[in-house]
Amino acid sequence: MGVAMPKLTKYAEKSAGLQKHNLRICDNLKPQIADRFPLRFLTFAARKQRKYMISARNITLAYGKRVLFDEVNINFTKGNCYGVIGANGAGKSTFLKILSGDIEPNKGNIEISPGERMAVLKQNQFEFDDCSVLNTVLMGHKRLWEVMHERDKIYAKADFTEEDGMKAGELEAEFGEMGGYEAESNAGSLLSSLGVKEELHQSLMRDIPSNFKVRVLLAQALFGNPDILLLDEPTNGLDIETIGWLENFLADYENIVLVVSHDRHFLDTICTHVADVDRSKIKVFTGNYTFWYESSQLMSRQINDKNKKTEEKRQALLDFIARFSANASKSKQATSRKKALEKLTIEEIEPSNRKYPGIIFQPLREVGNQILNVEKLSKSVDGRKLFDKVSFSINKGEKIAFLSRDPLAVTSFFEIINDKQKADTGKFEWGTTITKAYLPLENEEFFTSGMTLMEWLRQYVPAHVTDADEPFLRGFLGKMLFSGDDIQKKTNVLSGGEKVRCMVSRMMLQNPNLVILDQPTNHLDLESIQSFNEGCQVFPGIVLITSHDHTFMQTVANRIIELTPKGIIDRLMTFDEYMEDSRVKELREEMYS
Ligand SMILES: Nc1ncnc2c1ncn2[C@@H]1O[C@H](COP(=O)(O)OP(=O)(O)OP(=O)(O)O)[C@@H](O)[C@H]1O
Ligand SMILES: [Mg+2]
Repeated sequence: MGVAMPKLTKYAEKSAGLQKHNLRICDNLKPQIADRFPLRFLTFAARKQRKYMISARNITLAYGKRVLFDEVNINFTKGNCYGVIGANGAGKSTFLKILSGDIEPNKGNIEISPGERMAVLKQNQFEFDDCSVLNTVLMGHKRLWEVMHERDKIYAKADFTEEDGMKAGELEAEFGEMGGYEAESNAGSLLSSLGVKEELHQSLMRDIPSNFKVRVLLAQALFGNPDILLLDEPTNGLDIETIGWLENFLADYENIVLVVSHDRHFLDTICTHVADVDRSKIKVFTGNYTFWYESSQLMSRQINDKNKKTEEKRQALLDFIARFSANASKSKQATSRKKALEKLTIEEIEPSNRKYPGIIFQPLREVGNQILNVEKLSKSVDGRKLFDKVSFSINKGEKIAFLSRDPLAVTSFFEIINDKQKADTGKFEWGTTITKAYLPLENEEFFTSGMTLMEWLRQYVPAHVTDADEPFLRGFLGKMLFSGDDIQKKTNVLSGGEKVRCMVSRMMLQNPNLVILDQPTNHLDLESIQSFNEGCQVFPGIVLITSHDHTFMQTVANRIIELTPKGIIDRLMTFDEYMEDSRVKELREEMYS
């Protein structure tokens, strides 16, 4: 299958320990040169490779019988942005933690070129509660932070010796070299471009809303241009504008970026390479997500097509690459990054064998005429009005998309109608025929106990189900792709996406006729997102949803409600129609001003 490799390059690849795909790129472009001048070619490539690099060598890790990584070997090179993809639970977060040294593999090691600085996007939102916002960002550059403190300690001394003076001088020099004198203002502007306004920069982390914490932690990771940047699902919790900002930032970034994401648009905008975590291995391919996806689909069709001769297949693949490269170079990727897309090769892309979970909500009964009445609800936090004068009622057949410029507004509204918090004024009333199932934005509180998956789900069996035996529960978990030994797994070790799948199993178990979804695509892999999206489209009940996923909003909703500090905008139309409507545009400007 695929294009045959010249023998010599295969040998060269082994002896130089180079990344496979890089040699292939050259094979494709100029195989004759590689053949004729193997040594010169090799030294050049090898030299280039040695510059700024992080490598994984023979990484092996297993949890019980489950082998997450089996002898994984890869190099990551300066200038490239690697999109780390794979199904929920494949091991993406674990791999990033191995790279950063937070998890020790059973075997193997990580090599980093000396002097390289690595920065990681922290997941724990509470870690910096006692620090100011600005200091949290500065701490992202560990050495800079240390030098600042050592220096200040010396200056604070009452008996300042000559030796102290020398030391202080050295520290000042190092501080200056690291850009220390501009550090605060750089950190400040980074925060501001991420939408964290200046008046918050001196606040303590514990006092700012959680959606801002995410941005501060992002600023911390990006601060001071680290040589290696590790980001695990950075777009979760960001609004569309900030995601756009991050896309531009990363597309121009000249160092190594490894980013785990399930957001197809985000991956396509930033990635030069795809690192696919599957079947205990990690394979790196040149190209963005769409290239990887389309070529793996094409590959599986080619494999099944037994009638076609090898030569014909090869030609079809080459045509595909040519077409894709031409389109890719028109994309909005930064020029330096675009170059990678001119060197695409399809070799060794394997057909995708990802599985789709079954997300189907089956209502026990139809909704009656009374569904939900909301009257004059309002809510403020810290003196900021999230929404006001929210009044509406829901009719049969409605699937409503909620939005707001304030990222807290819809989440608060959903929490209020689910009795998780109280409104400042107003009231709401549910119809008696309604059985609702709610997917909250955060789910950590559900997974603190060390229960097994089976025990966990059993807690949520509703009263109307009288025969919830093990096979019944297994059925629900199986639909969400938990099978065999998975069921005995403890819920506190689950991956982000696995937790969401548990929450969805819990919802399906309720047989709801109304579902409330706060960012349903967060953490889910692309296959799950697609199933979830289809499940909501065919669901005969009522849907209340808010999502950063454009497709989800557009394909599910037939009514749009926008929550603003001056009341609501309420339209019976699709999401795209709403966004393009000129009257709505005017209204939006008025109501947020
Ligand atoms: N201590 C542990 N014991 C047993 N299994 C574990 C442990 N820690 C993690 N796992 C399992 O390892 C697998 C990989 O987890 P990881 O968080 O790396 O997945 P992921 O690829 O990041 O998934 P997601 O896309 O959902 O974030 C999961 O199935 C998880 O349940
Ligand atoms: Mg993960």
